[in-house]
Amino acid sequence: MKIVHTLKELRQAFEPVQARVLVPTMGNLHEGHLRLIDTARRHGQQVVASIFVNRLQFAPNEDFDRYPRTLERDCELLAGRGCDLVFAPTEGELYPLPQSYKVHPDPVLANILEAHFRPGFFTGVCTVVMKLLGCVQPDVAVFGQKDYQQWRIIERMVHQFALPTRIVGEPTCRADDGLALSSRNGYLSPPERAQAIELYAQLRAIAQAVQTAPAGRLDMQALEHKATMALQTNGWQVDYITLRRRMDLLPPTPDESILGQSVVLAAARLGATRLIDNLEV
Ligand code: PAF
Repeated sequence: MKIVHTLKELRQAFEPVQARVLVPTMGNLHEGHLRLIDTARRHGQQVVASIFVNRLQFAPNEDFDRYPRTLERDCELLAGRGCDLVFAPTEGELYPLPQSYKVHPDPVLANILEAHFRPGFFTGVCTVVMKLLGCVQPDVAVFGQKDYQQWRIIERMVHQFALPTRIVGEPTCRADDGLALSSRNGYLSPPERAQAIELYAQLRAIAQAVQTAPAGRLDMQALEHKATMALQTNGWQVDYITLRRRMDLLPPTPDESILGQSVVLAAARLGATRLIDNLEV
């Protein structure tokens, strides 16, 4: 596996393959990221992982400075999983000038849910993803569905700009007890880690209630309220837990069919750690 830090080295490392596949990451890799590499290998011959902690997507009060930088270990993990090329640019390489051109995603998708709690986040994500797609010029790029809203926004960005990259969404990878794998799980204390599974438990409870509700008798507000209360009782601060349409993340209308078309999305804080998760229904 080759590791490069500059755009020039990156371009020199391109192979004349049928399909180059990009897995964008911010490093501090876990099994969830490595599954993205497995999927990437099924979609092409040259798998490129990018590792870049993108300042543009962090608000001033967020964890940009303490976000773990573990390049050496990340590269070992990637090599072990058959990644071909790692692009790990410095900030100066990716943003040689202050990034004044930015991608402002569709407000219908990007001014809801996460955007209320992380203003500017999706502009930062879309800007760096657009730039990474320009650098790597992949035929396919793989994103985790754990960041469901991010995945949907990027799909739409690529479609609207007619970029020649196909976006593949990889289902969320979970620990044995159901917790969605996330770099931020490392911030949890042992008691918080034990409690963290409750978020997925509440998503499952909502999904089950939706699946078993008699036709026309689904009270989503009551279900969301019950889940919020259950989490709050266990010490969580809930940002949202809500059922949305998969395609545009808007609430389904009362006459719409829900099963097979919807996703329950949640974000909540345990102590200082904010976790997100979702479950398609
Ligand atoms: O999901 C992430 O890790 C980041 O948001 C991404 C897509 C690598 C952009 O920095």
